[in-house]
Amino acid sequence: MSNILENANINPRKIAMVGCGFVGSTSVYAIMQSGIASEIVLIDADQNRAEGEAMDISHAIPFSTTQHIYAGDYRDIKDAALVIVTAGAAQKPGESRLDLVNKNVGIFKSIIPQIRDSGFGGILMIVSNPVDILTYVAWKISGFSKERVIGSGTVLDSARLKYMLGEHLDVDARNVHAYVIGEHGDSEIVAWSSADVSGVNVNQFCEIRGHFQHESSMKKIADDVKNSAYEIIEKKHATYYGVASAVRRIAEVILKDEKSILPVSSLMEGEYGISDIYLSMPAVVTSSGVETKVHIDLSYEELTNLQNSANTLKEILGKLDL
Ligand code: LAC
Repeated sequence: MSNILENANINPRKIAMVGCGFVGSTSVYAIMQSGIASEIVLIDADQNRAEGEAMDISHAIPFSTTQHIYAGDYRDIKDAALVIVTAGAAQKPGESRLDLVNKNVGIFKSIIPQIRDSGFGGILMIVSNPVDILTYVAWKISGFSKERVIGSGTVLDSARLKYMLGEHLDVDARNVHAYVIGEHGDSEIVAWSSADVSGVNVNQFCEIRGHFQHESSMKKIADDVKNSAYEIIEKKHATYYGVASAVRRIAEVILKDEKSILPVSSLMEGEYGISDIYLSMPAVVTSSGVETKVHIDLSYEELTNLQNSANTLKEILGKLDL
């Protein structure tokens, strides 16, 4: 796969953020602190919001590395390596991500053509919810190659799973290797079949740590991961730190061409018997987007649930006027 960032017209360290709400501004703050970008342009329907966030985050630059962060518009994104879209309505208490679909598809019908018509040639990352549906919509409307259009998917859910397993097993979450796959939402699936702690099967490691009620423990952890956003939104009316760190990590992998394996939302093309829908499964992510998917073994129940998840999303897609 050709390296998009070798395109002379692209600044390999430039990022554009479309949407400067809680998720977008916190993501820019996390990216600023990481020092991976030399230039970040913020775009929002509310220009004052974009300018205010750019100013506020820029005042933290002396604590990070030299970079230029400013408010702009779609004329400023042509040479960006990565455009991140967080714009759209966010879940309110009691709302599911899928409840947002009609309103946010309407917003995307305005945003995505402006990104496409700007001449942008880099990677398009969708974060807005429902992220799998909206990433498919962005791919369709933009006409970009499938590799270039990815969603943040279940990168955050997998981080929540690692955190909760790390707490349960009293080990560093970074030594927990486990994926949440499928929809970033109510039908997501924990791929327990492939979960391990530093190469030790997760059940075996649980027993090393004195836990033997595997089924009940796994169900509780999987439910806690799936319901995290609902709980947080009930308490503080939004989530943004976890997802912003996931966005920063994906952006870092793309800008540095790290070829890391992340469960981003990508176009399914027959994997697990699923096609023509965006879902999360482990994928090798490079500066040119998704290079290849990584097949992980699933139990019959996990596979069935994944296929049901895909069918749920396809039903919703089928009702959209794209
Ligand atoms: C969450 C939002 C980003 O899961 O969907 O926190």
